[in-house]
Amino acid sequence: MCGIIGYIGNQQALPILLQGLRDLEYRGYDSAGIAVMDNGKLQRVRAVGKIDNLARKIKNDDYPGTLGISHTRWATHGGVTEENAHPHFAMNGKLALVHNGIIENYRELKEKLKGVKFNSETDSEVLAHFIGSYYTGDLVAAVRAALSLVCGTYGLLAVHTDHPDEMVAARLGSPLVLGIGENEYYAASDVTPMLAYTKRVTFLDDGEIAEIKRDSVRISNLHDQAIKKSVQEISWNKQQAEKQGFEHFTLKEIFDQPVVFEDAIRGRIDMPAGTAKLGGLDLSEDQMRQISRIVIVACGTAFNAGMVGKYAFERLAGIPTEVDVSSEFSYRDPIIDDHTLVFAISQSGETADTLMALREAKRKGAVVRGIVNSVGSTIAREVGAGTYIHAGPELAVASTKAFTNMVAILLLYAIQFGRLHNTSLATGQRLLKALLEIPQKINQVLKQVEQIKIKAQKYSKYKNFFYLGRGVNYPVALEGSLKLKELSYIHSEAYPGGEMKHGPGALISKDFAVLGIVTKNQLYDKMKSNIAEAVTRGARVIIVATEGDKVASEIADDVIFVPKTMELLEPLLNTIPLQLFAYYAAVELGTDVDRPRNLAKSVTVE
Ligand code: G6P
Repeated sequence: MCGIIGYIGNQQALPILLQGLRDLEYRGYDSAGIAVMDNGKLQRVRAVGKIDNLARKIKNDDYPGTLGISHTRWATHGGVTEENAHPHFAMNGKLALVHNGIIENYRELKEKLKGVKFNSETDSEVLAHFIGSYYTGDLVAAVRAALSLVCGTYGLLAVHTDHPDEMVAARLGSPLVLGIGENEYYAASDVTPMLAYTKRVTFLDDGEIAEIKRDSVRISNLHDQAIKKSVQEISWNKQQAEKQGFEHFTLKEIFDQPVVFEDAIRGRIDMPAGTAKLGGLDLSEDQMRQISRIVIVACGTAFNAGMVGKYAFERLAGIPTEVDVSSEFSYRDPIIDDHTLVFAISQSGETADTLMALREAKRKGAVVRGIVNSVGSTIAREVGAGTYIHAGPELAVASTKAFTNMVAILLLYAIQFGRLHNTSLATGQRLLKALLEIPQKINQVLKQVEQIKIKAQKYSKYKNFFYLGRGVNYPVALEGSLKLKELSYIHSEAYPGGEMKHGPGALISKDFAVLGIVTKNQLYDKMKSNIAEAVTRGARVIIVATEGDKVASEIADDVIFVPKTMELLEPLLNTIPLQLFAYYAAVELGTDVDRPRNLAKSVTVE
């Protein structure tokens, strides 16, 4: 949701900003703009719609200058118009601002700005003028003075024509990271747009302001006290954030899975002891034994991964585990004590709902840990401890490889807890060996891409889907159904197979498609019966079944086979064909696969 990229250095800013905006496209946006400073003047270009629309407005050699700020906007206050797009100007075009977040008291601030002519309906333009009203020759002082009266959230960059050697950045609630080059700095909402230039970054924390010059940066708080920050090395590289010949990021990320799965488990397995070693948990074995309840908070795909975790923690460690949608957890008086371990799971590490939930859990005294993909993200830093899932940059809005790696980490945690409770050495070792075989088995599923594509094309004409699964495959059904909705916009719901007869079954007719996960596990026979009921009622049925299972394949119209693995690990394989199925259904229907309508990758508002 909204993206910022700014540059100050010795290179031409425009190409860096334009490419940076493209790199940030995945966050979701509806308009974009750039302002570049040269010879004491700010020049601005903005456009509604795709970055291509913006690029078309720029001719060669337009907008020279080595200092600039830019923005992709996701409309909140005011419609999708060029006037509402950032950067916003104040002080007759001398001051430019890009802003992510929401200024809650913007009406009040606007009241104070008597006589100012506003050119947009945005809270951000009010902030630009408000900063301008405090300007007496010192830009950073004006930003500081204005922000101390602002209620709301911001990640912002400001520049002023009196200061051709300065860019000011500030953060409260909306992420901002500084990239450090040779006599140049980048400032952006996340590391993606700076990967091509530098790996050295500093993450701003809430309440911090950075005064960025070409060759130095001073970070301070709202009271102008200097803050010493550490520089981190980012392990992601530019190539990982490219399509690498795939038509869409979604497909590329599905195909990344065998490799990034290995990254998730590497160095985290202790085979002789039949356990996992996830140092990020930061609890002694005694403290781990004191944990009597686990609560997982997450949204969307991360929630579905959390559901797999529930089955694993309860089965292997006997620890009661509940999974809560983050936005519900924060506002329902959850029962928490200091023996409760809360896992906050998030790919982006910026999801506002999950951030609120983990803060609530901390307030109530829980031990809170993160399971996060984006290194240095807000959730990763606020939890203080936890585990990175190492899925690499995930740029398609709908999450795929992050799901698999979240499940991998949850399984490792469950084994680690399990070995301190009721899981035997032999079971621990069997699970770990089975985990090590997963990448090669994912590859086997991916090899069937052409057959899955044909099936997806065939089924894409259905307007309604039920995804059914039981036990550990119920979360797989949830995730498969979510993918279909997100990517293809086909209406789809997921249910535990046994629940059909309690209501949803009334909908089944010959116009319905049912996708069932019927792999060989302890609920196999029950799941087969549930599918048979759907067949009897005339639905068109496609199932995911275990390789070589002729019986299951006879009950359905179509079958996708997956290799056999241990039951708790099945989601790692069974989800893959459902990702491909949703992807190819979407391609067939011509949707914007990587950037589905109405969705954003990083949802930084509650
Ligand atoms: C958004 C995305 C989903 C994602 C969810 C949680 O809604 O569109 O794909 O699963 O946020 O995101 P997180 O970054 O916290 O995993």
